[in-house]
Amino acid sequence: MQVTEHPILRTANLSKSFGSVSVLSSIDFHVDPNESLGLIGDNGAGKSTLMKILAGVYAPSGGEIFFNGAPVTFKNPQDARAAGIEIIYQDLALCNDLDVASNIFLGRESTKNIGIARLLDRHGMMQEARAALAELGADIAPDQLVGSMSGGQRQLISVARALQFSPKLLLMDEPTAALSNTKIHLLLDLVKNLKKKGISVVFISHRFTDLIAVCDRIVAMREGKISAEIKPADTKPSDLMSIMQTALSGEEIL
Ligand SMILES: Nc1ncnc2c1ncn2[C@@H]1O[C@H](COP(=O)(O)OP(=O)(O)O)[C@@H](O)[C@H]1O
Ligand SMILES: [Mg+2]
Repeated sequence: MQVTEHPILRTANLSKSFGSVSVLSSIDFHVDPNESLGLIGDNGAGKSTLMKILAGVYAPSGGEIFFNGAPVTFKNPQDARAAGIEIIYQDLALCNDLDVASNIFLGRESTKNIGIARLLDRHGMMQEARAALAELGADIAPDQLVGSMSGGQRQLISVARALQFSPKLLLMDEPTAALSNTKIHLLLDLVKNLKKKGISVVFISHRFTDLIAVCDRIVAMREGKISAEIKPADTKPSDLMSIMQTALSGEEIL
C-alpha cells in the first residue's frame, strides 16, 4: 500500500469577510511537511488575513482548515500555537521597553521552585535566550532593551521567540520589509536552516527573486484569491517571471 503524506496544513474553500467586504474567497491552500512556501501578492491581496486565520487570530467566515489531515478550529492564537503554528507579524510585535530575553520568553517566563515561592528564573532565561540567539547566529546580548534595536535584530529576536514554542509551521509575514540587503541574505539562510530542521515555513515577500532562491513552491494571491502556484524547480526560469506577472496583474491562470 502506498502511503500518501498529507499536507501539514490545508484549507478548503476558505473565505473571510469583514462586515460586508469580502477579503478572501475560495482559498484552497496547503503547506507540505518540511516545505518552504513563498506567498506573494499586491498590497491588500489578503496575504496577512490568510496568515492570521491560520494563526488563530481571525476566525474564517467559511470553509475548513485541516492540520495534519484533521479538521481544526482555532478559537485563538493559543489554539494554533498548541497545534504547532507560530506567526511572526509584519510589524514584529515586540515590547520595546523590555529586554531581549523578556521578549523571547514573553508569556512563558521560566520559573524555578525556590522553597514555596516560584520565582522568575532570570538567570536561566538569560542563558536560554543567549543560546537561542547564538543558534540563529545572532550576536545580540539578551539583557539589552529591544527599543533601540535595528530591523535585523528585531527580526532575529522574533524568530528566536517563535522557535521557543517548537513550531511545526512558521508563518513569516513580510520578514524582509525592514531589512537591508545584507540582512536579507542572513534571513534567507535562516529559512533554509529552518527547513533543514524539518520546520515548514510560509514566507511572504514582494521580492520574487528571494522567493525563488529559498522556496520550494510559490503561491500568488490577487484580490482575495489564489491566482497562481509555481514550483521554481519545475519551471523554466524564463517562464517564472511571465507567470508571476500574469498572476499579479489579474489574468487568472489557475
Ligand atoms: N481587521 C480588518 N478589518 C477590515 N478590513 C481589513 C482588516 N484586515 C484587513 N482588511 C482588509 O482586507 C484586505 C486584505 O488585507 P491584507 O490581508 O492585510 O492584505 P495583504 O497582507 O496582502 O496586503 C485589505 O483590503 C484590507 O484593508
Ligand atoms: Mg500584509
